[in-house]
Amino acid sequence: LDNGLMKTPPMGWLAWERFRCNIDCQNDPKNCISENLFIDMADRLFEDGWVELGYNFVNIDDCWSLKKRDQQGRLQPDPERFPGGIKHLSRYMHDRGLKLGIYADMGTYTCMGYPGTPLDKVEIDAQTFANWEVDMLKYDGCYSNATDQAMGYPLMSKALNATGRPIAYSCSWPAYQGGLPPKVNYTQLGEICNLWRNYGDIQDSWSSVLMIIDWVFENQDVLTPAAGPGRWNDPDMLIVGDFGLSMDQSRSQMALWAIMAAPLFMSNDLRTVSSEARSILQNKMVIRINQDELGIQGRRILKEKSNIEVFWRPLSNDYSALVFFSRRTDMPYHYQTSLSKLNYTAGFYKIHDVFTDETKVVNESTVLDVPVNPTGVVMFYVSAKLQIHHFSRGGKLLG
Ligand code: DGJ
Repeated sequence: LDNGLMKTPPMGWLAWERFRCNIDCQNDPKNCISENLFIDMADRLFEDGWVELGYNFVNIDDCWSLKKRDQQGRLQPDPERFPGGIKHLSRYMHDRGLKLGIYADMGTYTCMGYPGTPLDKVEIDAQTFANWEVDMLKYDGCYSNATDQAMGYPLMSKALNATGRPIAYSCSWPAYQGGLPPKVNYTQLGEICNLWRNYGDIQDSWSSVLMIIDWVFENQDVLTPAAGPGRWNDPDMLIVGDFGLSMDQSRSQMALWAIMAAPLFMSNDLRTVSSEARSILQNKMVIRINQDELGIQGRRILKEKSNIEVFWRPLSNDYSALVFFSRRTDMPYHYQTSLSKLNYTAGFYKIHDVFTDETKVVNESTVLDVPVNPTGVVMFYVSAKLQIHHFSRGGKLLG
């Protein structure tokens, strides 16, 4: 969507995967969907170095509202769980360089049974969100049909634009249409939405991450061209820092989400996230790759019999990223390759291992011995071809 927003994939935090529809603030005050939860997460983002890295959205998902609209027909937050109101929250975010996202649903109800935003409510709800100074809307699709969706998703795009407030727009539409043409029209989505969920919900497990990876790269010929600045495929939240992934699997999710130019919305508890998980999520080089300004989504370029897969993403200034991913379940596998086998042209390149921080200069035929752990990755940030005058006669790199 050409509204000037999300020229690179958005980053931040989203409540759903980790906190779901827990509204039991009596028994579980620290973890229920309430303003305190969003304030806690905002404080963590602000104080623990996340904002500087680009994680600046704090996004509310389902279960924030009352079951009834107010007398004027407007959505209203549950006053017991959000006593300050949504505008209070958005102010809290803005004061700290953060942005607030909210959630609505195109059908009669949200997926969890709260009031929906069907066609006749689109305008009033867009205006309410703008009045609350919200910065992003996720528009879900439960309890709606294909006909209404075909009208509702474009209509909401117009309504948000008409408020005059820049509000980024996340559409769940394709996820409700199977994610593929002919039902899904990616050209249209790119025109009306800043990002869109293509596929099913992520859960806190490796099998769920793997299912998403498989679906995205099986369909890369359709999905890759759809992405670009201001319009992103959304394979769903990062679950790094939760319970389901090993550290290797966490690096795999992070690396492949960067290859996919995916939105990086963490859904974890930033109050208790482990230092290992944090260092993966805060890895500057992965983030830089994810945020590359060209905004070209990467692809799987090799599927080896050894069960190693290779992914590649072109980056600006002739840089690129490579990921070696192991689907093996035995032991670290020494994958042998070279840049020429990965379609690089002759010349010298600097390779930076994103997770070990090691660098080396290689040419196209240098044998690369890449040890990949089971369910893990090795990720390389590859420079543009080096200029030959950088080399002394002895072949050593200077400077
Ligand atoms: C379905 C969406 O895909 C999820 O991300 C989440 O928003 C739930 N609905 C909320 O009910």
